[in-house]
Amino acid sequence: MARSGTLSVHLLLVISLSAIVVAAGGRALPLNLLRGFERPGFSRSFHRIYDTSKYGIFQLNNGLAQTPQMGWNSWNFFACNISETVIKETADALVSTGLAKLGYVHVNIDDCWSTPKRNAKGELVADPKTFPSGIKALADYVHKQGLKLGIYSDAGIYTCQVRPGSLYHEENDAKQFASWGVDYLKYDNCYNLGIKPKDRYPPMLKALNATGRQILYSMCEWGVDDPALWAGKIGNSWRTTDDINDTWASMTTIADLNDKWAAYAGPGGWNDPDMLEVGNGGMTYQEYRAHFSIWALMKAPLLVGCDVRNMTAETYQLVSNEEVIAVNQDSLGVQGRKVNVSGTGGCSQVWAGPLSRRRLVVALWNRCSKAVSITAAWEALGLDSSTSVSIRDLWQHKDVAEDVASSFSAQVDAHDCHMYMLTPQTGSRAEI
Ligand code: GLA
Repeated sequence: MARSGTLSVHLLLVISLSAIVVAAGGRALPLNLLRGFERPGFSRSFHRIYDTSKYGIFQLNNGLAQTPQMGWNSWNFFACNISETVIKETADALVSTGLAKLGYVHVNIDDCWSTPKRNAKGELVADPKTFPSGIKALADYVHKQGLKLGIYSDAGIYTCQVRPGSLYHEENDAKQFASWGVDYLKYDNCYNLGIKPKDRYPPMLKALNATGRQILYSMCEWGVDDPALWAGKIGNSWRTTDDINDTWASMTTIADLNDKWAAYAGPGGWNDPDMLEVGNGGMTYQEYRAHFSIWALMKAPLLVGCDVRNMTAETYQLVSNEEVIAVNQDSLGVQGRKVNVSGTGGCSQVWAGPLSRRRLVVALWNRCSKAVSITAAWEALGLDSSTSVSIRDLWQHKDVAEDVASSFSAQVDAHDCHMYMLTPQTGSRAEI
């Protein structure tokens, strides 16, 4: 089990010299951000650190994913070994464990649900061996539990596991998904005939919209064509990287790649660093805690990828942390990012992001191979160094300090991650 680190607090009184609000790069900033995060309290670097200049420029207007989608997906644990029994039992488990109540409502079937060929009418068909009752019956079952059903197809002629893809069948396939009661489409990128994603992904959006059913559109083009730069108008989320696997190396690499696009996420459209591996066995408790913390902070879709029917208590404890989930689902919808690195190879890391009601989330992530003390300096967080904050530890579920200025530090175990909520107290220390 994880040991909790000790929190040491350094107080420093610095007079705030200026109270000028500066807009990053001279661009107009969205009012809701400007209103909360201004001086006194926040520093002139705040909008540069979090690059708020692009916030809200993308919002897919289908009313969905105002906060990152949460649920489960079959791929990471089951791959092609799926069936209607697995999907139903998973839906049952999401409800019985209480995860559904915490927001995990999407039950998403990934690749391998269909037969290798379309039927004589050109329709997609659920594999009769594994899904004998068909997708409509499964959607009805899932809906009765208060959950939503997701399905998978591909913006190419085949899926990655060589089932029929939806390229050139967008309209009919979307109609079929809608008629089955599907609520979510993950749209993959295999066998794409070398046609640009920008040409292959919009037709499915149009087809989904035309059905009149609200279907969350999750684009999976693996980040190949820098989707953050254009997908916000097309999908509710877009993968920014190649597939995750259940290792520390994969998870950390993906976190860094996804971080690059932080400025482009917002309500309605999210960067997707791929599904969670928490509970699949390839990482330690500390590494999974870091994985879950950083995915939550990055406003990633939180799609559990383990067998929720047989989760360990540790896995459940990680994915059910309501305070960490609240960070992910915060109404402001700004993706947190890496704001400071130190130590050998930059392995002592501070990640942070703004939250609604003038708060900040701060993660101290130790990517070194030994325990280290990590310091979050106000300068790196975009706070005036005189600003006094209270600090809550989101993993210990405790208020750990109040009236803290300038910086705070904690001892963090190897590969572990601490997560805190910082609430600035009224005004800056200089004012009090
Ligand atoms: C691709 C996707 C994965 C998964 C598999 C299924 O690799 O990126 O997330 O959907 O296909 O074949």
